[in-house]
Amino acid sequence: MAAPTKTATLTIDGKSYELPLLSPTLGPDVVDIRKLYAEADVFTYDPGFTSTASCESTITYIDGDKGELLYRGYPIEQLAEKSHYLEVCYLLLYGELPTQTQMVDFETRVTRHTMVHEQVHNFFRGFRRDSHPMATMVGVVGALSAFYHDSLDINDPWHREVAAIRMIAKLPTIAAMAYKYSIGQPFVYPKNSLDYAGNFLHMCFSVPAEDYVVNPILAKAMDRIMMLHADHEQNASTSTVRLAGSSGANPFACIAAGIACLWGPAHGGANQACLEMLREIGTVDRIPEYIKKAKDKDDPFRLMGFGHRVYKNFDPRAKVMKESADEVLGLLGIHNNETLKVAKELERIALEDDYFVSKKLYPNVDFYSGIILEAMGFPTSMFTPIFALSRTVGWISQWKEMVGDPTQRIGRPRQLYVGAAHRNYPDVAAR
Ligand code: ACO
Repeated sequence: MAAPTKTATLTIDGKSYELPLLSPTLGPDVVDIRKLYAEADVFTYDPGFTSTASCESTITYIDGDKGELLYRGYPIEQLAEKSHYLEVCYLLLYGELPTQTQMVDFETRVTRHTMVHEQVHNFFRGFRRDSHPMATMVGVVGALSAFYHDSLDINDPWHREVAAIRMIAKLPTIAAMAYKYSIGQPFVYPKNSLDYAGNFLHMCFSVPAEDYVVNPILAKAMDRIMMLHADHEQNASTSTVRLAGSSGANPFACIAAGIACLWGPAHGGANQACLEMLREIGTVDRIPEYIKKAKDKDDPFRLMGFGHRVYKNFDPRAKVMKESADEVLGLLGIHNNETLKVAKELERIALEDDYFVSKKLYPNVDFYSGIILEAMGFPTSMFTPIFALSRTVGWISQWKEMVGDPTQRIGRPRQLYVGAAHRNYPDVAAR
C-alpha cells in the first residue's frame, strides 16, 4: 500500500489530531485510526461495523451502490458465465486465474483429498439421528483438527496450504454425510472421476442399491451456486473466521466458527428461512398480507431473502440466481412452479413498494437459491450446508491472507461501557 497522502482532522476539546486517509484500489477512502486511542485517549463506536474496515484485503470487492461483486477484480457475472467453481477456488486462493497445467494440478490435489479419515464416520454416529446437518457440520469440521495433525502449524506455509486443500476437498463430503446421516441412509464415498459439483450430487443422492447418473444440467447449476457463494469479503462469518484465526487457532477450528456464524437466519440461514416463507405464503394472492407484516414495526417478520448490509441495489448474485432458477426448472420440465411464481410476484410488488424502495431493500442471493436447490431434490435443511461448503474457499482464502500478513495482530475490539460504575459489595442482609 502506498504511503498516505491525504489526512482527516479530528478535533476533540479544541485539540486536533491528524489521521491518515488510506486509499484503496476501489471504494471509499479509509480513515486510519490505529493510533487514535494512544494519542487522543478515545475509542470509536461502531456496533455492527457499519463504517469500519477491519482489515486490508486483496480478495473480493463489493460496490453496494452499483450492485457489483468482483473476485480478485473479475466481475461475478463473467465468472458465472465462463468459469467453474474449482477455477474460482484457485483464483480466490492464489490471486490469479490458473494456466491449464496449474488447473489440472489443483484439481488433482483437491480430488485426492475428498475422503475423510474413516474414524470420522464413527464421530458422525454420536449425533442424534434427526440433527440438523449444520449442527453436525459445526461439530465434525471442528473435530478435523483431531484427525489431521500434520496441517495444524499455522506458522508453516505448507501446513496452511494443505489445510486449505483439505478443507475445500472435504467439506462437500462432510455436508453430504451430514445429509445422509439425517435421512438414515449409508454414507456414500466420493467418486474422483466426477467433477466437484457432480461428485457432491453423487454423494448426496446415490445409494448402494442402484446406479446413479449425475444429471449434467444439475451439476452445472450446482457449480454455479457454489461460484456465487464462494466469497463475499468481510461478512459476519468471514469476520468470525478471521477473528478466531487472529488468536492463532487452527484452521479447522476457525472454519467451524465460520459455519456456526453462517447458520443464523440473518446470514446464510436465510436461504432455508426464505423458502419456508415462500411456501408459507403459498399463493400469489396472499402476498399483500405478508408485505404488510414485513412493513409493520410491531411485527418481527421480515421478508427473508430481502435486504443486505452492503447492497443498496440489486445483489448481482440474485440476478444470476434468478436466471438459473428459470433455466433449471425449465430444463427439468417443472413448469408452473408455485413457489417460483410467488417469489417473482413478491419481488415485483416489493420493488414497487415505497417501504422497500426507500430503504433500498432488494432481493439478495438467498431469494432464488432455495427454489433451485429444492428442484434438485434437496430438503431445506441442506440449503445452508451447501452455502457453507461453497463459502469454505472464501473463508480459507481470507484466513490464509490474514495469517500470512506480518502486520496481523489478535482481533480485540473495545466497548462503550454503560454499566454500573464502582460500587462496594453489600452484605447479603443489606440487599
Ligand atoms: N424485510 C423488511 N424490512 C427490512 C428487511 C426485510 N427483509 N431488511 C431490512 N429491513 C428494514 C429494517 O426493519 C430497518 O428498518 P428501520 O430503519 O425502519 O428500522 C431497515 O430496513 C434497515 O435494516 P437493518 O436490519 O438495520 O439492516 P442491516 O444492514 O443491519 O441488516 C439484513 C441486513 C440482516 C440482511 C436484513 O436486511 C435482513 O434481516 N434481511 C432478511 C434476512 C436475509 O435475507 N439475510 C440474508 C442476507 S445475505 C447473506 O447473508 C447471504
